[in-house]
Amino acid sequence: MSKNVPSDTDSAPERSSSRSREGTRAIFPGSFDPLTSGHLDIITRGLKIFDHLTVGVLHNPEKRTLFSVDERVKMIQETLQGDAERITVKSFSGLLVSFVEELGTHVILRGLRATSDFDYEAQMALMNRQLSPHIETFFLMTSERYSYVSSSLVKQIAPYGGDVSHLVPPQVRKALAAKFSRT
Ligand code: PNS
Repeated sequence: MSKNVPSDTDSAPERSSSRSREGTRAIFPGSFDPLTSGHLDIITRGLKIFDHLTVGVLHNPEKRTLFSVDERVKMIQETLQGDAERITVKSFSGLLVSFVEELGTHVILRGLRATSDFDYEAQMALMNRQLSPHIETFFLMTSERYSYVSSSLVKQIAPYGGDVSHLVPPQVRKALAAKFSRT
């Protein structure tokens, strides 16, 4: 095979980087506007596989979000404080692959709820691989209990006082109530 054509195994030296002395590490990126019970389910499952997770919260000034990036980071930190030793929450902007590289790892963790997620996720994973061939995307299936839960649905329900307690962790439910002036 031509040396100019990278094969899938050409990235072997980098592969060892996330299996360092500190253990296996992955980045769980997303908008998290807001964090849902489905995201939490993936984090819990991810911690059974990886020693450390960085939750990467996208800051995209061009995209309107319900919660500011600082609010989203704070909510996630509060929710995950019991696992603080194994989880870091950080915001990032720009390309995800650059963030992953900055952190010195090469695994992106993403959750799949249903086959409908697959097209978008495959497109992102392949684009990220093209941008940075040694970065791998690792998919985990969300529990069927949360397969219908999304941040967008939560944002449709919460303003009208719909019960979101089974869709988001308590810290997020409180933040939503404060946002929509209910206590
Ligand atoms: O929770 P989301 O909105 O589905 O997460 C999407 C996210 C943040 C993972 C994706 O939009 C992203 O990685 N954005 C950063 C910009 C980037 O790198 N885009 C190229 C990926 S194809």
